[in-house]
Amino acid sequence: MSTGKLEGRVAIITGSGGGLGAECARVLASHGAHIAVIDIDGDAAGSVAESIKALGGQAVAIRTDVSSEEQVQAMVAQVKQHFGRIDVLHNNAAVLNVEQRQKDRDICNLDMAAWDRAIAVNLRGAVLCSKYSIPVMLEQNRGSVIFATSGLGMQGDMSLTGYATSKAGLMMLPRLIAAQYGKQGIRANAVQIGLAPAENAHQSMPAEVLDILRDNHLTPELGTPRQIADVVAFLACDESSFVTGTTLVADGGFSSHTPSLVAMRALFEKMGKTGM
Ligand SMILES: NC(=O)c1ccc[n+]([C@@H]2O[C@H](COP(=O)([O-])OP(=O)(O)OC[C@H]3O[C@@H](n4cnc5c(N)ncnc54)[C@H](O)[C@@H]3O)[C@@H](O)[C@H]2O)c1
Repeated sequence: MSTGKLEGRVAIITGSGGGLGAECARVLASHGAHIAVIDIDGDAAGSVAESIKALGGQAVAIRTDVSSEEQVQAMVAQVKQHFGRIDVLHNNAAVLNVEQRQKDRDICNLDMAAWDRAIAVNLRGAVLCSKYSIPVMLEQNRGSVIFATSGLGMQGDMSLTGYATSKAGLMMLPRLIAAQYGKQGIRANAVQIGLAPAENAHQSMPAEVLDILRDNHLTPELGTPRQIADVVAFLACDESSFVTGTTLVADGGFSSHTPSLVAMRALFEKMGKTGM
């Protein structure tokens, strides 16, 4: 449903050539925002921008590697030139392809190039986009900076050492930005996302893994990209004008329960069946 709550606002969304970022681009556009679709995959960014324009929205696609300072600086200048302002920055880009996931392992088996890449794209990229977008927001004394993060940024797990560390950093950045620029009208928040795979991502995960993760969410089902995009739209618009410097958890309760909950649930079920 379009509310017009972002009418005329300009939003940069990184990594929006696919997955959650693309859904965020479509949903923010449906609320009236003009979207800069940023991705290292220029063709994918172009298709998302075209799909927004086909529905009557305004969008521009800019191929950018967010880990490159030169490219980010040029991208922000291009967005400013194209739309005249920047109101929202959603730092969503992350390097998550299969090769990266296979190399970003436990510390003893960590491929340091994969570590460097995770930190460069996920963390440095978000810092760079913030560094160049916030001065434009300060010109209008208003802006909302959002960071896509994950429970892996605060809970230990078996692998993805670089990814998890980058996501932990992304929970600190909104606090810093809120403290540094809050008095000048800039808000900053993170969204801690549970498993909300895009439709095509379901097939790339083994069914057993999906079952374990579904069991550990407290909602009947895993999340959807739309559910995450709705939270991002809330943080982007004035409905959240008193929310800053925090992490909003949108994870279906994944991080809110005791580690023993799933085993206890299975035990209670067994007791119910056997009268044990
Ligand atoms: N989908 C989930 O269930 C989930 C859960 C927790 C957190 N997240 C977070 O949400 C965000 C989006 O996740 P997703 O599942 O849609 O991932 P995705 O892999 O589908 O999308 C990531 C996008 O980032 C782009 N990208 C990669 N490297 C880049 C670079 N150097 N410069 C610019 N763009 C680059 C990719 O091309 C891709 O379009 C990520 O930050 C991820 O960590 C997602």
